[in-house]
Amino acid sequence: MADIDEQARQTLLDNDRGGYTIPTSGLYPFQWNWDSCFCALGWATFDEKRAWAEFESLYLHQWLDGMVPHIIFHEHVPTYFPGPEIWQVPLNIPTSGITQPPVAASKVRELYETVKDKEYAEKKIRQLLPKLYSFNHWFHLQRDPNNEGLVSIYHPWESGRDNSADWDAALNRVPVEDLVPYQRRDTNHVDADQRPTTLEYDRYMAIVQFLRGNLYDHHTLHERVPFRIADVGINAILLRANLDLLWLMEKFDYEDDQAVRETRGWISLQEEAFDKLWDEEDQAYYSYDYITGEPIRAIGSATFLPLYAGVVAPKRAEILVRRIEEWTDEVNYLMPSLNPVDSRFEAKRYWRGPVWAVVNSLIFKGLEETGHGHLADRVALDTASLIKKSGFWEYFDPVTGDGLGGDCFSWTASMWLAWARHYLPDLKKKQA
Ligand code: DGY
Repeated sequence: MADIDEQARQTLLDNDRGGYTIPTSGLYPFQWNWDSCFCALGWATFDEKRAWAEFESLYLHQWLDGMVPHIIFHEHVPTYFPGPEIWQVPLNIPTSGITQPPVAASKVRELYETVKDKEYAEKKIRQLLPKLYSFNHWFHLQRDPNNEGLVSIYHPWESGRDNSADWDAALNRVPVEDLVPYQRRDTNHVDADQRPTTLEYDRYMAIVQFLRGNLYDHHTLHERVPFRIADVGINAILLRANLDLLWLMEKFDYEDDQAVRETRGWISLQEEAFDKLWDEEDQAYYSYDYITGEPIRAIGSATFLPLYAGVVAPKRAEILVRRIEEWTDEVNYLMPSLNPVDSRFEAKRYWRGPVWAVVNSLIFKGLEETGHGHLADRVALDTASLIKKSGFWEYFDPVTGDGLGGDCFSWTASMWLAWARHYLPDLKKKQA
């Protein structure tokens, strides 16, 4: 255990670029939005000041309209594509032009609850609060302009679950006739059969080309973007983030009353709207495709994130729990990113089957908080066992437990330090 802990800390130290942590060198050599928030929790286990710095560096690059971009290109590194020359965002330190799951407010709250130096934490939170609020505000304003309570994503990369089966049909409709030729670099670092296919990549790049061609103008994008989806994952994460933001605002007597009222308003609107994502016939939460006006009938790990948003009535929670229990007959390690009996399931390909430690940590919370502690413990134990067996990989094969994608991965090391390690039986016994 001590060895693994030391390796985890070393992974963060090796990936530290001075105030921000890269996910892994080569494959992802810049600062990624939701990665950074999870990394802060890992840092906090041995360097609390460094943990707060992670949020500070991320929010230094928040756009004026409130968006926190999904990548910040702090320095020139030629091993990644698409880099700043493709996004063409005119900033001194360039960024991408899309966002990622807004876990920030929730991870700031978690950090506050775990750190020892509460005084320093309070100082940092007071500085961060207006920025956390303005990111969530951006989501509601720009991605739900009709105030319906469900925000949309314009690119699969915004969901964080890039090649999830959820996006298949919608991606197939993205026109690629005018796609400018490009050369991907991810497959220089990782086996192609663990990454998205060329057909998917073409569509990713076609959407980037569209966003850039329209200068990231929200009005135009909302009307014309070829991919517009209310992702059940992002909506659950945003609802949870609003609840945690409100908790922080109340805890620290946030002086902006209007912001507090607005946050409460989003929460009620979202709680009501979430019901629209529930499919009575299939007994599941589905993402919704705004372009076709149809639900997306795929079941994957995001299906369970509404538990984390605290928005699932007990009867529905039982149904979700039974589904997870059924999956334990199909795979050895929870949570596969796609239903293991779906014909599109691929145990080694990115978000079409593999287990991701960070998603497990969110599902764990949802299960624990809805009174399903036994299954929550299983998710945590599986995560710890995968890491102990294979190392700090980006993702894992849910059948064999093999490590996949990028190695020496920061958010996996962080999830070990801050969460999963505590669920190994030896340690649990000692703590009891
Ligand atoms: C990639 O490049 O694969 C990333 O997932 C985009 O954020």
